Amino acid sequence: MADIPVLTIDGPSGSGKGTIAQLLAKELGWHYLDSGALYRVLAQAAIKHHVDLDNEQKLAVMAHELDLVFSLDNDTLKVMLEGEDVSTIIRSEQAGNAASKVAALPLVRAALLERQRAFRQLPGLVTDGRDMGTVVFPDANYKVFLTASAEVRAERRHKQLKEKGIESKLSDLISEISERDSRDSQREVAPLRAADDALQLDSTSLGIDAVYKQVRAMCADV
Ligand code: C5P
Repeated sequence: MADIPVLTIDGPSGSGKGTIAQLLAKELGWHYLDSGALYRVLAQAAIKHHVDLDNEQKLAVMAHELDLVFSLDNDTLKVMLEGEDVSTIIRSEQAGNAASKVAALPLVRAALLERQRAFRQLPGLVTDGRDMGTVVFPDANYKVFLTASAEVRAERRHKQLKEKGIESKLSDLISEISERDSRDSQREVAPLRAADDALQLDSTSLGIDAVYKQVRAMCADV
């Protein structure tokens, strides 16, 4: 496993990590894991099966047994839960917030660990999330921690949601993003933080192209 290269991109919601990770995976021809989608799908499954979002024991069992398939459809991640396409529904802010509640539960995180590590396959893996460089792949070859101000992240999210046909209010997004940031940063297990050996980038006033260039330069030897 350890000789299969991994590049991790961690950071808060809306920092651009997903976009950068997908571009890199495509250019390098590596596998891609959107780890946040796992937590989003689990929360969606909980809502579907009327399981409370703080029922740790039950959610951990569900996390082990989750009938989930990821695939790429025209460069867009397609997510199937129990045979149903949930790609759009899991992207709402409510789904993100529900995901961050289940993600705070230690047994849930433990249950998803092996599932995430199984994505490490040749020729390599690009992955994004909150704890990819710190907990899931601490031995990753390249680590990035991407951030940006909450306002800029909310604006980006607003635009993204609009493109997907999902209505949202900017002021709601700012408070939801801030609430999610503090829950993700303050939880006891695998809180959102940069790995000591991560390249830290602030994309508040940087476009996607500029961020991409810097990250690509970091792994120029690939
Ligand atoms: O990255 P995304 O916004 O899709 O993640 C949704 C939620 O899942 C985050 O707010 C966070 O609580 C959780 N998450 C996590 N660890 C990861 C990825 C996501 O706790 N590696």
